[in-house]
Amino acid sequence: MKTVDTIAEIRAALAAPRRAGRTIGLVPTMGAFHAGHLSLMRRARGRCDVVVVSLFVNPTQFNDPADLTAYPRDPDRDAALAEEIGVDYLFAPAAEEVYPPGFATTVSVGGVTEPLEGNHRGHAHFDGVTTVVSKLFNIVGPDIAFFGQKDAQQALVIRRLVRDLDMPVRVAVCPTVRESDGLALSSRNAHLSPTERTRATALSRALRAVEDAVSAGERDPAAARARAVAELRAAQIDPDYVELVSAETLAPVTRIDGEVLALIAARVGATRLIDNQLIRSPAHQDNGRP
Ligand code: PAJ
Repeated sequence: MKTVDTIAEIRAALAAPRRAGRTIGLVPTMGAFHAGHLSLMRRARGRCDVVVVSLFVNPTQFNDPADLTAYPRDPDRDAALAEEIGVDYLFAPAAEEVYPPGFATTVSVGGVTEPLEGNHRGHAHFDGVTTVVSKLFNIVGPDIAFFGQKDAQQALVIRRLVRDLDMPVRVAVCPTVRESDGLALSSRNAHLSPTERTRATALSRALRAVEDAVSAGERDPAAARARAVAELRAAQIDPDYVELVSAETLAPVTRIDGEVLALIAARVGATRLIDNQLIRSPAHQDNGRP
């Protein structure tokens, strides 16, 4: 694996394989790798000839400066983990390489950026994400880019960006990797105290409660939502939101029919966590039989 930190270098490295028709996979990350990140890299390794992982803690997507300062960083460990998986290039530019003096462009997606995280973190968050991801796509020119379902809204926003701006890249969204007790892996989990870590399992339990209610025939989103809120309250968690929405538009559903996305955001102590689960009501479940 080669670590490169300039745009010119990564472009030069990819020119020959691109000309030879080799497929290029990109996994955009902010580092502090955990098994979720590594699953995306393995997926890319399995599907592409050349795998590029970008490691850039993007300052423009942090709405809270303290969150940016506290963001975990361990570039040496990250490089070793990526190398073990067989990543070809780790692209780890400095902030000035990505945002040189005079930088003045923002790529902004409407619609799906507005509710949920957009509402709670402000539109600058997704503007930061879509601007940096557009730059990474232009720099690397991947055939396939890999994102995690863990950040369900972000994945939808990227799909919208790619469609609306005719970007020649396929977006692959990969399943959420969880701890054995259900907690979705996140770089932020490192900030949880032992008791907060235990309480944090309520998020996945709350999503499971929604799933169980729907399996048992519940079709009223308010009733299903109340089950999730009860799980969170039992762990003294007051959520930012618990929503059941259309998995395509993120608009709230009035009835659970077909596929819905259940999403939760909540602070556990000072740490803000998000999680989600795609839920299919039984009539629409594919049991694999013809
Ligand atoms: P980061 O939080 O580092 O996440 C990088 C990728 O890993 C994202 O696509 C995210 O959805 C995925 N991921 C995180 N936790 C996961 C888990 N438990 N299971 C599966 N995938 C998981 O998301 C970002 O960085 C940034 O916003 C970025 C897209 C890099 C733009 O700066």
